[in-house]
Amino acid sequence: MGVIKFGLIGLGHITKGFIKDLALVEGAEAVAVASRSLEKARAFSAEHGVKKYYGSYAEILEDPEVDIIYIGTPHDSHEEWSIAAMNAGKHVLCEKPMGVNCAQVERMVEAARKNRVFLMEALWARFNPTIKACLELVRSGVIGEVNYLNADFAFLATKDTGHRLLKAELAGGTILDIGIYPLFLAYSIFGKPKEIMASGLFHPQTGVDIQVSMILKYPSAMASLYCGFVSKSDMVARICGTEGTIYIDGRWHESKGYTLERGGEMEKVSLPTLGKGLTYEIRECIECISQQKMQSELWSHQNSLDLAEMLDEVRSRVGVRYGFE
Ligand SMILES: NC(=O)c1ccc[n+]([C@@H]2O[C@H](COP(=O)([O-])OP(=O)(O)OC[C@H]3O[C@@H](n4cnc5c(N)ncnc54)[C@H](OP(=O)(O)O)[C@@H]3O)[C@@H](O)[C@H]2O)c1
Repeated sequence: MGVIKFGLIGLGHITKGFIKDLALVEGAEAVAVASRSLEKARAFSAEHGVKKYYGSYAEILEDPEVDIIYIGTPHDSHEEWSIAAMNAGKHVLCEKPMGVNCAQVERMVEAARKNRVFLMEALWARFNPTIKACLELVRSGVIGEVNYLNADFAFLATKDTGHRLLKAELAGGTILDIGIYPLFLAYSIFGKPKEIMASGLFHPQTGVDIQVSMILKYPSAMASLYCGFVSKSDMVARICGTEGTIYIDGRWHESKGYTLERGGEMEKVSLPTLGKGLTYEIRECIECISQQKMQSELWSHQNSLDLAEMLDEVRSRVGVRYGFE
């Protein structure tokens, strides 16, 4: 197979980062973009040197040149546009979270199976070189029996109540937007927990969750996780075992290195990323599509389903349910 041709839907913040990283990856190219506004699509395509642009999402799905659709819209529309794209015969890379809840992710996975196309959640942290290296250290037993994880994701979010992060109609709030990352790390190290405890605080006007603490209990390990929109954090993640500790440099989900502590000795490892680091999930798409795979082995459909189930459980504990669910 030649170059994999991407069509991009939803021309917001992350899609701008995505198209810049796409330009750094060999074997992939952006051939079309789609926005709800034709003028916005035209300006975006001109800025990024993309030859085709559409003023509706439906139109790009009809473009025969497009192999894979990247979905960079708010959470509430991931299911709709992923399934529409797959029914049009396109492969899909869908921004995280794959769906708002587990039932949505199940329907998306079913659409991939039915249409025999590739579908992956754009959980870029899974492909980050530092995280891959740290998970390998854990697996190889370098820090002994791992029994504690401490990870968070926090930043000072906008006060604009019209922004998608704070809008319940768009499935905003911390859990789905950023809580997904520490949950992903706990899942990647320990698997699905025996029990999840969680508690949160809500936005006084819009009602979305703005601070959430999560405790995950495993047969012989605990994870203490947090996500928040109301302050910054150094976002160093700590993976602790009986023989040592791994400190993933902040912001850990897009890390460029880690420190390994064993017997009081510190070893610092630097692993710079290509571009912002979205390049690695793009490479995974190219590899999988070239090999006619319907899913990635590094971040499989089952992985997305498991994570969606954990997110559902956290939301249920905190009491977060969207009006459209
Ligand atoms: N991987 C990462 O590091 C990362 C970082 C940030 C966000 N994300 C994920 O990427 C997705 C988009 O986030 P973002 O921060 O890029 O959001 P954003 O800046 O608000 O952009 C979202 C885009 O979606 C389109 N859209 C469709 N329906 C919309 C609606 N009802 N309201 C607002 N916009 C709508 C708009 O594009 P058009 O006007 O062109 O149609 C908008 O520009 C989310 O799933 C988020 O979790 C991932």
